[in-house]
Amino acid sequence: MFKAVKVGGRGAAQVLVVGQFKGAKSAEGHAKDGAIGEVLSRTEATGDVGRIVEAFPAKGRGKSAGPSRIVVVGLGEKKSLNAETMRSVAAAVGRWIATTKDTKIDVDLAAACKAAGLDAQRAGCAFGEGLGLVAWTCDQFRGTASSKSTLTSLEVRSDSKPFAAGLERGVGLAESANIARTLSQTPPNIATTSYMASEAKKMARQVGLKCTVIQGSKLDDEGLVGIKTVGAASENKPCLVRLEYTPSARARSGKPVVLVGKTMTYDSGGLSLKVGGSMAGMKRDKDGGCAVFGAMHAIATVIKPNRKVVALLCIAENSVSDEAYRPDDVLTFRNGVTVEVTNTDAEGRLVMADALCWACEREDPACVIDVATLTGGVVVALGSTFAGMWCDDDKLRRKVEDASEVSGERVWRLPHHQEYRDMMKSPVADILNSNPNRKAHPIQGAAFLSYFVEEGVPWCHLDIAGVHATDKDSGPYIAGPTGWGTRLLAELLGGGA
Ligand code: BES
Ligand code: MN
Ligand code: ZN
Repeated sequence: MFKAVKVGGRGAAQVLVVGQFKGAKSAEGHAKDGAIGEVLSRTEATGDVGRIVEAFPAKGRGKSAGPSRIVVVGLGEKKSLNAETMRSVAAAVGRWIATTKDTKIDVDLAAACKAAGLDAQRAGCAFGEGLGLVAWTCDQFRGTASSKSTLTSLEVRSDSKPFAAGLERGVGLAESANIARTLSQTPPNIATTSYMASEAKKMARQVGLKCTVIQGSKLDDEGLVGIKTVGAASENKPCLVRLEYTPSARARSGKPVVLVGKTMTYDSGGLSLKVGGSMAGMKRDKDGGCAVFGAMHAIATVIKPNRKVVALLCIAENSVSDEAYRPDDVLTFRNGVTVEVTNTDAEGRLVMADALCWACEREDPACVIDVATLTGGVVVALGSTFAGMWCDDDKLRRKVEDASEVSGERVWRLPHHQEYRDMMKSPVADILNSNPNRKAHPIQGAAFLSYFVEEGVPWCHLDIAGVHATDKDSGPYIAGPTGWGTRLLAELLGGGA
């Protein structure tokens, strides 16, 4: 929608954005008379969230150039103004400005936020996120048979210092989430395993992260059997990418937060092939890794926490060939746990197991958070409204829930229990990768993963299969990838986890 969204910039804004609460006859912080008062007396000026009416200030009278357009945007009920509505409000403004083709907007919502008791910086951040997220377009795969619109950049500013500071943060976070979305959108013939690794290296170089790629015989040396096995059938070779952020100042704590992302560049199901319509869209089976990728970008560019953060991307393509792994194979993982493969379409947990073992054995983690499009079952359970969350560590869970509250990426807790772990027991090996019994399916996935996390390590598993993409335009999103998790993980590191 926009080439870029920038905060600040020179020159006068063509557009002034003000807010109207539901049913109000004036814009908060603005006089009742004049152009704004006039437009708000009209019946279409309802003040519903995102509803827009325009006022045009009288020209001339020798005044210096003011805005030529006033966008009055509905804020909904005063008592329910929050960050989420602010994101939708910003998205509505962004969509509107994309049609008016203005390039500089001045946002004057601080008085409205004050009236509603919403912190101006938080509101500014949400507004910046909304604008940045709605700006996302991915038309690089359109060819000569499409007409591509030329995109312009949008400059946004605010006279309120805290609101403007929030805008800066929000626009930055959205940029990171948009990186995740673009990766998600990139088709599997282009976003291959080596492409993901080289994009990680490129990003690391740009923002000052350390990047190591473990591939080929090194996967064997390190005992990363899940990644190696799942990726064996594809000519696109699997790898583990490790990204590291080290604070410039002396770190508050030596132990890193470790983020783990399932990065399946394509999930055909393998020999347990996906049938019917269930394969299409599986280019997005890398979205856990994309979210972690985006979060590392945000951590390096916006959050800059005073602690070490390590990201592990489990990158593979689940394909079919005579080298494919099979149902009945038995794998021995780094931590000695043996797994009987019963279904090659339950591949995500196999690659994640490697990284969870690695995190516990090699990184001495303060905590481990994994993000994965792990199960179709979580979509059945929670739809696209909440991600499934498994976390039995109260302190970590509170941090994840707090970050989720701030980012608006909702999580709902589901249980761990020994009975679920027992469902994963195998007659042949220690455990199997999929119990044909479909009971509590997403919980079985979490139970499987729990065999690879050392006792005592605070751990949170997020199953994002329902929330990583949306099938309709909503809030700041258009149909397609949401970048779910990038902002949550960034906020989590920003909140001093
Ligand atoms: N990548 C899928 C899960 C998925 C489903 C992601 C829908 C996004 C949308 C995962 O690897 C998978 O295939 N899961 C199977 C596991 C089953 C075969 C044990 C599932 O959930 O059906
Ligand atoms: Mn699968
Ligand atoms: Zn998968």
